[in-house]
Amino acid sequence: MARRGSVTRPPAGGETPPPAAARPLTLVSAPARGPDAEETDHPVRWSRPRVPMLAVASGKGGVGKSNLAVNLAVALGHKGVRVLLVDADLAQANLDLLLGVHPRFDLQHVLSGQKTVEEIIVEGPPGVKLVPACSGAPELAELDDYRREVLLRALGHLDMAADLILMDVASGVSHQVISLCRAADRVVVVTTPETPAFCDAYALIKVLWQRGLQAAPHLVVNFADTPEEAEETAHRIRLVARRFLKVDVDVWGHVPFDHSIPRAVRLQEPVMTAFPTSPAAAAYRALAERAWTGPLSPPEASAPLISETLEA
Ligand SMILES: Nc1ncnc2c1ncn2[C@@H]1O[C@H](COP(=O)(O)OP(=O)(O)OP(=O)(O)O)[C@@H](O)[C@H]1O
Ligand SMILES: [Mg+2]
Repeated sequence: MARRGSVTRPPAGGETPPPAAARPLTLVSAPARGPDAEETDHPVRWSRPRVPMLAVASGKGGVGKSNLAVNLAVALGHKGVRVLLVDADLAQANLDLLLGVHPRFDLQHVLSGQKTVEEIIVEGPPGVKLVPACSGAPELAELDDYRREVLLRALGHLDMAADLILMDVASGVSHQVISLCRAADRVVVVTTPETPAFCDAYALIKVLWQRGLQAAPHLVVNFADTPEEAEETAHRIRLVARRFLKVDVDVWGHVPFDHSIPRAVRLQEPVMTAFPTSPAAAAYRALAERAWTGPLSPPEASAPLISETLEA
């Protein structure tokens, strides 16, 4: 069977590749492959969810991943996309707090075999369902391969309609983060304009790309004081990634520094619903437009993405 996708490389002969913004973007298109990816026989590829999966990751912690995941989900929900939000920061989960929901069960119960994923799902804002995890469970920070497989298979065989699985993973470059990102169709890396976050974001992109990411990563710059500062940050990451990794990082945009976000966090409500006219809410809406250009309903969006190994 033919290979799915191809490695994203700049054209030969020193031509400048087209800017990422000019390319059509869809979360359901055939993904490109990382340069060192094995063909398809890694276990994470056996458990590809039937629903397209987007992972939200970052090198440095505290850069705004969880708020991005929650508010992007809400913004996509407003567009009619059915989003399953998965709290995959398994040891320090907090999406339930950001959404103001109170789950009785969480992924720990799924991993121990007491509940199915369907049984722990809680309703969020319109279009959004949450698969909650628990906080303060260090043993979940590094699941063994078997339990990670159980988790991915459970998500891959959900008995419910969803257009997108949006997964908030932990920060850093742990084995768990890499595995979850490799299982996703797309990864969006969050950074801030500060040098440590910028450097860690590049390090994460490098590790992910070298370990066989499904497609070139996307980038969001959070905590930007000005659009110019965000553009400058994104530009620098794009430059080094293109030069040293030969990958075109696709910049989705930025979220400004906005006091509405911590205010909404304190209210335990997404800023999208707590302060819908805030600059942050407008930015999340713009990111949702940028991120989702695919069809909103079956057959394409919900078509099984079974690995070539299993299809063969
Ligand atoms: N654009 C922003 N403007 C102002 N404050 C923000 C912004 N984005 C996030 N914050 C604040 O930054 C803090 C960290 O945000 P968040 O929890 O989303 O980060 P994270 O990357 O998920 O952190 P962790 O790595 O610990 O999981 C929160 O207190 C939030 O209120
Ligand atoms: Mg978080």
